[in-house]
Amino acid sequence: MLNFEFKNPTKIIFGKGQIAKIATEIPKNAKVLMLYGGGSIKSNGIYEQVKTALKDFEVIEFGGIPANPEYAILMDALKIIKEENITYMLAVGGGSVIDGTKFLSSAALYEGSEPWDILKNAIPTKKGLPFGTVLTLPATGSEMNSGSVITRAETQEKLAMGGPGLFPEFSILDPEVVQSIPQRQLANGITDAFTHVLEQYMTYPIGAALQDRFAESIMQTLIEVAPRITANPSDYEAAANFMWSCTMALNGLIQKGVPTDWAVHAIGHELTAQYGIDHARTLAVIAPSHYRYNFASKREKLAQYGKRVWGITEGDTDAIAKAAIVKTEDFFHSLEIDTKLSDYTKDYEGTAQKIAARFTERGWLGLGEHKTLAPADVEKIVEMSY
Ligand code: NZQ
Ligand code: ZN
Repeated sequence: MLNFEFKNPTKIIFGKGQIAKIATEIPKNAKVLMLYGGGSIKSNGIYEQVKTALKDFEVIEFGGIPANPEYAILMDALKIIKEENITYMLAVGGGSVIDGTKFLSSAALYEGSEPWDILKNAIPTKKGLPFGTVLTLPATGSEMNSGSVITRAETQEKLAMGGPGLFPEFSILDPEVVQSIPQRQLANGITDAFTHVLEQYMTYPIGAALQDRFAESIMQTLIEVAPRITANPSDYEAAANFMWSCTMALNGLIQKGVPTDWAVHAIGHELTAQYGIDHARTLAVIAPSHYRYNFASKREKLAQYGKRVWGITEGDTDAIAKAAIVKTEDFFHSLEIDTKLSDYTKDYEGTAQKIAARFTERGWLGLGEHKTLAPADVEKIVEMSY
């Protein structure tokens, strides 16, 4: 096991009817900016619950943060934060609203002239404007981590940022919010969380037995609840397990003491930036090719995953490892998630070269757990995903 430090300061308040507790978590004299997305919270009752809980606070609202939170829109919110002297933010939404709020948390205290530099130059945020979240869509884990991914349509970029100052102070996880989530987003959430585990697991054995089993148990739980939650999003027990699995998949715990990959996400973000494909779907496109291309260095973990998560017993290590990749694709297909780029766009020629050129330009010359995946390798992986 590798050396590690672990600190996660986010307070989780989990369960039915817990949204009312916002009132006791936000400091009494706070001037609050409540941020949300395109309006789903207004039709599923979450908006009313939050407004009721905030009745004794001074609150300004900022709605309209789109999926793949857009820099230009967030800059409008930043203006409000500064003009109104906002002291606290409350994100009510999925990964996009929470990530947008994290960007604002950082940008509000940033002293440079161009907040995009936080992303472009990967400046870590040590201190941000404090915020809490009400999670409405289990998927990203953003409710309990310090990462954020922001999109800039103008330049077709999608870049990540983070730092110890960007953990939410608290997050309310009420599984009842799952009831109103459309099938497409349920499938996305399961696929995203599943791939988060893969990114932190599908590397090489390092003798971290507990982390491996944490990871495997999250994947097994997601596989188990997937058909239940898609058949009936009002199944509270399935929703609770789905929600907690997504949070646990990316709150930092399972990555401690182990090598991590994250190449699938780095490449996937480019597909969202170029084609607007849902984040989770880009992962399902890239992951199988990535594992096939890097088969030699990942075969031991692929086989362990095949045996323990999918119960594959037939064949030698290579056969089990290969079958495990097919099982992963089948799982995505069972969620009606397509796994080829050509399923999403007919305009894919040249994508691989374009992504490789961008990575070269940014100096991303060695991705993956061994930091050896060069832009030329990325190009081949993307071509295999056409
Ligand atoms: O905008 P509204 O109207 O609220 O609708 C949203 C949105 O259209 C809808 N939705 C959310 N909760 C709902 C609901 N509809 C009905 N009922 C509810 N309870 O779902 C749609 C998608 O929402 P979004 O927040 O975009 O989805 P998700 O949570 O999957 O977030 C994706 C974003 O997170 C980033 C992705 O790159 C992407 O930009 N990620 C963030 C990570 C992190 N911070 O750690 C890690 C991830 O790997 C990922 O990169
Ligand atoms: Zn993801």
